[in-house]
Amino acid sequence: MPVISLASPKGGVGKTTAALLLATELAQKGVGVTVIDADPEHYIERWASLPDKPANLHVFTAATEDTIIDDIERAQEVTPFVIVDLEGSANLLVAYTIMHSDLVIIPMQPSGLDAAGAAKGLKLVKQQEKSARRHIPHAVLFTRTKAAIRTRTFAAIQEQLEKAKVPVFNTQILEREVYRSLFDFGGTLESLDPKDVYKVEDAIGNARNFASEVLAMVKNTASQSKQKVEVA
Ligand SMILES: Nc1ncnc2c1ncn2[C@@H]1O[C@H](COP(=O)(O)OP(=O)(O)OP(=O)(O)O)[C@@H](O)[C@H]1O
Ligand SMILES: [Mg+2]
Repeated sequence: MPVISLASPKGGVGKTTAALLLATELAQKGVGVTVIDADPEHYIERWASLPDKPANLHVFTAATEDTIIDDIERAQEVTPFVIVDLEGSANLLVAYTIMHSDLVIIPMQPSGLDAAGAAKGLKLVKQQEKSARRHIPHAVLFTRTKAAIRTRTFAAIQEQLEKAKVPVFNTQILEREVYRSLFDFGGTLESLDPKDVYKVEDAIGNARNFASEVLAMVKNTASQSKQKVEVA
């Protein structure tokens, strides 16, 4: 029952957008998913009140460090996948969620400022690994990137992450108007009218690749921990 959280102490890096794309694409694949909306802005809760929400996608609103662990456990009883959209800060709620995650996704835009934010996010994961005394799988996700544009800053950040052996998603979430408008229209990328959306197929493909990569990572992690149990 994988718990996937989106964490970065830096605000506005694309956590909520990536959380909704992941949740809707998993639901499209027929996977039951519950989003715990722990972002104080509650954009995903608002999206859930719009039409066309898939029936196998549930949204819980949780906001306190006192309830988050129970909320995660409750969500795990409802659906096989749980996604936690965290606020852009480093507090106890964030720490508890990371500790209970099977995968922590750290979104960042390819800028120096966001790199500093991601470094703090990685540090948070390391701290929770020490507290939990286990490896917490995590990976950086580049967001709002532009097709065919790789700035020098972007290249330098990628190089640094590679040197530090930080796992990075192969898929990048591109900058697309439709990812913003999903929060206004409701539903999924697939439920939007293709006539209203520029290159919707590309947007769907991008989000699907991201969801597939998450599924592969979670599967890989599950088989690794099973192996550890078998060896023990
Ligand atoms: N791939 C994208 N394409 C276009 N716009 C995007 C994309 N990702 C994020 N945005 C926009 O960037 C802004 C910040 O994104 P988002 O709310 O997802 O970030 P966040 O990390 O959840 O922020 P916070 O820390 O405040 O919760 C929003 O206006 C959102 O619509
Ligand atoms: Mg957010």
